[in-house]
Amino acid sequence: MTRNTSEHGEERIVPMRLQKFLARAGVASRRGSENLMTAGRVRVNGEVRCEMGAKVDPLTDVVTVDGRVVRLSEQPCYLVLNKPAGYITTMSDPYGRPCVASLVPTERYPGLFAVGRLDYDTTGILLFTTDGDMGQALLHPSHHVDKHYVAMVEGTPTAEELAQLREGVELGDGPCAPAEAVVLDADDAQCAAVVHGGMPRGTSVVGITLHEGRKHQVKRMLAVVGHKVLRLHRDSFGPLELRGCAEGSWRMLDDDEVRILEGIKGDTLA
Ligand code: URA
Repeated sequence: MTRNTSEHGEERIVPMRLQKFLARAGVASRRGSENLMTAGRVRVNGEVRCEMGAKVDPLTDVVTVDGRVVRLSEQPCYLVLNKPAGYITTMSDPYGRPCVASLVPTERYPGLFAVGRLDYDTTGILLFTTDGDMGQALLHPSHHVDKHYVAMVEGTPTAEELAQLREGVELGDGPCAPAEAVVLDADDAQCAAVVHGGMPRGTSVVGITLHEGRKHQVKRMLAVVGHKVLRLHRDSFGPLELRGCAEGSWRMLDDDEVRILEGIKGDTLA
């Protein structure tokens, strides 16, 4: 919440812009919240408010989106999930398919959403937060944080193919930014999360660091250089790692991790 100290020294919560309130409450990013307002879906004390200058007092005003009351929680929530294969990255699915929402504490933290996405069959680290601005900052094109993946692939990429990945291959939706790519040696490959119980003959494990976040990007990049991805795991997202968090479980970020993310958010929204 936005806190101020009055001339008498007591702490008080000051009115804030409606779109900021909605983003803080985890309803959507600030831009997404503006779209909700423009669409006439947001009311303050029963009145539709669509003007961008509208302000609310979080202590006294009743804000609703589509008729549901929205409140600020004291602290935004940040956690990472070790996503198993077989789950889609969405908070609900009209077809009833397993989705990541069932693996994180959405009851305790309403408004929790995944920052970015992993494919249905991809495993590994996925950040969740109730802080809409944080989500927007981490996915901002100019601020995309580095993400490290390990991929089990058919065949073994040659030095030339790795060089192509490092220079930036062309995908259907435009050229890729250069990506770090290495073939892991046998010992490192055995420890990679995509290898459980031995590697099938004719496969290798590639470590790849992306700065972007396009749909199926790792699979498409490796396909361009002739290697089908058989298994894919993300083991870091910006400064965050799983740190022993078991597949299918989640852990809260610690204060240091939150502080680093706040720094990235501050740079982006500045
Ligand atoms: N790249 C992919 O191909 N899939 C993912 O899930 C993430 C990155």
